[in-house]
Amino acid sequence: MKAVWYEGFGPAQDVLEAGEMTRPEPGPGEVLVRVRATGINPSDVKLRGGARPGAVMAYPKVIPHSDGAGEVEATGEGAEAWLGKRVWISNAGWQRAHGTAAEYVALPQGLVAELPEGTGFEEGACLGIPALTAWYATRGLREGQKVLVTGGAGAVGRYACQMARLCGAEVVTTVSSAEKGAHAGAEWINYRTEDVAARVMEMTGGVDRIVDVDFAANQRTALEVIRPGGTIAGYASASVMSPELDWYGFMFKNVRLHMLIVYQLSAEERAEGQTQLNAWLKAGQLSHAVVDGGGLSDMAAAHERVERGDKLGTVVCRV
Ligand SMILES: NC(=O)c1ccc[n+]([C@@H]2O[C@H](COP(=O)([O-])OP(=O)(O)OC[C@H]3O[C@@H](n4cnc5c(N)ncnc54)[C@H](OP(=O)(O)O)[C@@H]3O)[C@@H](O)[C@H]2O)c1
Repeated sequence: MKAVWYEGFGPAQDVLEAGEMTRPEPGPGEVLVRVRATGINPSDVKLRGGARPGAVMAYPKVIPHSDGAGEVEATGEGAEAWLGKRVWISNAGWQRAHGTAAEYVALPQGLVAELPEGTGFEEGACLGIPALTAWYATRGLREGQKVLVTGGAGAVGRYACQMARLCGAEVVTTVSSAEKGAHAGAEWINYRTEDVAARVMEMTGGVDRIVDVDFAANQRTALEVIRPGGTIAGYASASVMSPELDWYGFMFKNVRLHMLIVYQLSAEERAEGQTQLNAWLKAGQLSHAVVDGGGLSDMAAAHERVERGDKLGTVVCRV
């Protein structure tokens, strides 16, 4: 099969190789997916770049990417019901050597969900990290609650704005330009030019939840706008990875800090997320932002695009 892989950390152009590899076989409880689209997330490029603290190559050869979509072409014992189904994939690259940047991937059946009719493979390749993270960060929101989504033009943030609204919540988001505000599709505040805390208070009177893309950068604002008993669902803190925490500030507001990572969803949580996303997909309630990354041979450029961050949506390569 055709695949892209790396054998050491480094810049995309230096370490990503494309060529032929042996096609995997599905083991018991596994499905073999003919991948049609592979999604590239910041996490995939950070892993390939060796940016994770204490990073060591866990496998001699790594096929990158957690997300993708395709068709099940073969099954192992106990997974026969999946044969022939169109599926979307999550966690293929998490603590595994074989991700989705290949014509085939074999993986446990719990990591695939049926791709509803009407949702294409490219859209399906946006669901594993961006949409599932947004679902987890907005999970349990109720009618009438108020939510601040920081970075609503981001891959996760844009889904989070939609999902918070689907739960019945009122949403405000932060972006860095009018173009990004339009892309986010929610009431927006320019976080580079406006006083975010003052504007959020003016627009909402305080929020029940913050879905946060940069905990370190937004901590002071969060403390000001979160209501007592509110939740901060933080999924990244890229500007400062180990920020000082205003522990008493949050304690006196009885705030729940949920530092979440989509890779660590339990099997039950993953199944719940897959079911909810598929219900929204079947009802045509999710809008996707796919950025065309080309084919497998364009992978280094596609990785660089994710690194630069100058894209609106998820970079997806056809396979
Ligand atoms: N924990 C998890 O499970 C999980 C899951 C998915 C992603 N992540 C991480 O989350 C981050 C974003 O991922 P993504 O795929 O959504 O990336 P993305 O599509 O590149 O979007 C990032 C967005 O964040 C915005 N942003 C950055 N700093 C901000 C700030 N201080 N306030 C408001 N907005 C800000 C950017 O806006 P501007 O460019 O306009 O500033 C951009 O729109 C990455 O670090 C990724 O590794 C974590």
